[in-house]
Amino acid sequence: MPSPVSQPVVAKLTKAAIFLVVTIHPGAENEAAVRALCGDLASLLRAVGFRHPDGQLSSIMAFGSRAWDRLFGAPRPKDLHPFKEIRGQHHAVSTPGDILFHIRAKHMDLCFELAMLIMSRLDGVVTTEDEVHGFAYFDARDLLGFVDGTENPVDQAAVDSTTIGAEDAAFAGGSYVIVQKYLHDLKRWNAVPTEQQENIIGRYKFSDVEQDDSVKMPYAHNVLTTIVEDGEELDIVRDNMPFGEAGSEERGTYFIGYSRAPHRIERMLENMFVGNPPGNYDRLLDFSRAVTGSLFFVPTASFLEDVAPGLTPAASAASPPSGAGSASPRAEGSLGIGSLKSEAEHE
Ligand code: HEM
Repeated sequence: MPSPVSQPVVAKLTKAAIFLVVTIHPGAENEAAVRALCGDLASLLRAVGFRHPDGQLSSIMAFGSRAWDRLFGAPRPKDLHPFKEIRGQHHAVSTPGDILFHIRAKHMDLCFELAMLIMSRLDGVVTTEDEVHGFAYFDARDLLGFVDGTENPVDQAAVDSTTIGAEDAAFAGGSYVIVQKYLHDLKRWNAVPTEQQENIIGRYKFSDVEQDDSVKMPYAHNVLTTIVEDGEELDIVRDNMPFGEAGSEERGTYFIGYSRAPHRIERMLENMFVGNPPGNYDRLLDFSRAVTGSLFFVPTASFLEDVAPGLTPAASAASPPSGAGSASPRAEGSLGIGSLKSEAEHE
């Protein structure tokens, strides 16, 4: 049985990205339209990407908890749930989101073209909750002036930290993703002396070198976001992007973190917003306000390809339960989706 192919979660960091979060209108016809897009997404991507082979165009389609039940029913990814708001020293809000499209490329025209094609397919089907166009800023810096992404795991380590394995065999090859849009108060941040900014991040601003543990503040961002369990550091893959407008205060960092388990990112957020120990919170948040927050499951590309528009969650729930180890939705009876598509095609 071939292993399912993952979506390109660990694609290389690019110069441009679009983050689109939408909610699906009520009604079975709208759910069917979304399912129809699932199977066609790869072909839309080829149509845009093939015209610019060096453009590194890639796209991720991910689903929120409520949307999963509406679109696919049972079985469901075991750790999929709505984003949990956090009220600590600062507030991590939870905002609506049924589908996330994370579109990356070397150039914005590629991202924009694909986003337009996707949204024309979803015209009248979804409401756009949030759309952010991100850009790489000088040498991969955020708008606060710090290089962002340095400690990301790479190669196999990136795959291992983001790809579900035997812990949820029916969804092996999938991933979870959390997004948050942060607005920065740049006027106040830029008034903070560089040395103090460096203590907040835990790295030197110009060189990007990490501070030595002996000088690092307990509240440094890179201290609070380092999670160790049973002696193992639990990594995530981030692809944050600066975004914004010069003529308004609407500018900041779009945080996006992929992980094989949402728990890792949730622990980081708890440390940042509540503090570890409580009160020892992330001072970045004194200058950065989270205005969105959503959690999604990223199924495999194989799963998306096999989704049948006519599937009803009730039919899916009634199909045989996923056999242990049947990681691919193409597998007979694994999710009951591949077989339904074939039936629909033969009608
Ligand atoms: C305002 C939003 C944020 C900004 C501007 C920001 C910026 C940064 C910067 C500059 C670094 C140091 C360089 C690097 O290793 O990438 C960093 C590291 C990191 N950030 Fe963030 N970040 C933000 C939000 C978050 C959130 C919400 C999380 C997780 C929930 C997170 C997780 C991490 C992790 C895991 C590291 C690497 C720590 C290490 O191993 O050294 N960040 N971030």
